[in-house]
Amino acid sequence: MELKELCSTVAEMARTLGRELMQKRAEMAFDVMTKGRNDFVTTLDKYSEQTLVQKLSELLPEAGFIAEEGTRTDRADRYNWVVDPIDGTTNFIHGVPPFAISIGLLDGDEITLGVVYEMSRDELFAAYKGGGATLNGKPIHVSTRPTVADALITMGFPYANFSRAKGLLQAIDVLMRTCHGLRRLGSAATDLCYIACGRFDAYFEYDLKPYDVAGGSIILTEAGGKVSDYRRGKDYIFGKEMLASNGLIHSELEDIIDPLLSITNS
Ligand code: IPD
Ligand code: CA
Ligand code: CA
Repeated sequence: MELKELCSTVAEMARTLGRELMQKRAEMAFDVMTKGRNDFVTTLDKYSEQTLVQKLSELLPEAGFIAEEGTRTDRADRYNWVVDPIDGTTNFIHGVPPFAISIGLLDGDEITLGVVYEMSRDELFAAYKGGGATLNGKPIHVSTRPTVADALITMGFPYANFSRAKGLLQAIDVLMRTCHGLRRLGSAATDLCYIACGRFDAYFEYDLKPYDVAGGSIILTEAGGKVSDYRRGKDYIFGKEMLASNGLIHSELEDIIDPLLSITNS
């Protein structure tokens, strides 16, 4: 199957499943379990992942999986689906938007397809390599805001790993005095898509997992944005940290983030 067709099939799969999850959420038809400190999973995260794993395996039988809830853990040499069945589980539990299904397809080391369905606003973001990015089928592009001073920046706070909290607080101190505003949505996948469609201009966070960012990263780059790790490198899928932007403010932001957040300083 061509990437374009695969992308629209996966996108419709995510939308159908997401609508079902929204319905079940409205009925409060789920239970919550604790995985670790401030780390929760619901029965609907598990249901979502099981459904995705089954359908994605039918679509591309040779692919392996990197999936948050461990429904399938086998890795394949070439293709691997990177699946977050609900990104923003804490929001989902509390009934606060946004929360999203996030799916990326790794071809070797490269993400070649991404789908993020933000359920609470019925927004379906999708992209495949070379095909541009869309929101509900319409092309999207990053903002043209040229400086950090013009930017609305979204970010993540750590839930349990506070090893770089001091540097993070220093970065917040600098940025809140400099930019238009700072936001914390609670869904990394949605953060990236909101830059892709020009709502936000940049995002940064550490202690990330591949499934938090795989789908959103290609949606952002196909929309004209830029992603890197904090050290100006490309290890942003497995490297547990990400700086993302509209491209125009990337290096200005790197100059702030890199010295404060590249070192563990607790
Ligand atoms: C979390 C969200 C959140 C980010 C955390 C992630 P989850 O994913 O993306 O925005 O700050 O680092 O773990 O646990 O809700 O799938
Ligand atoms: Ca996640
Ligand atoms: Ca999750």
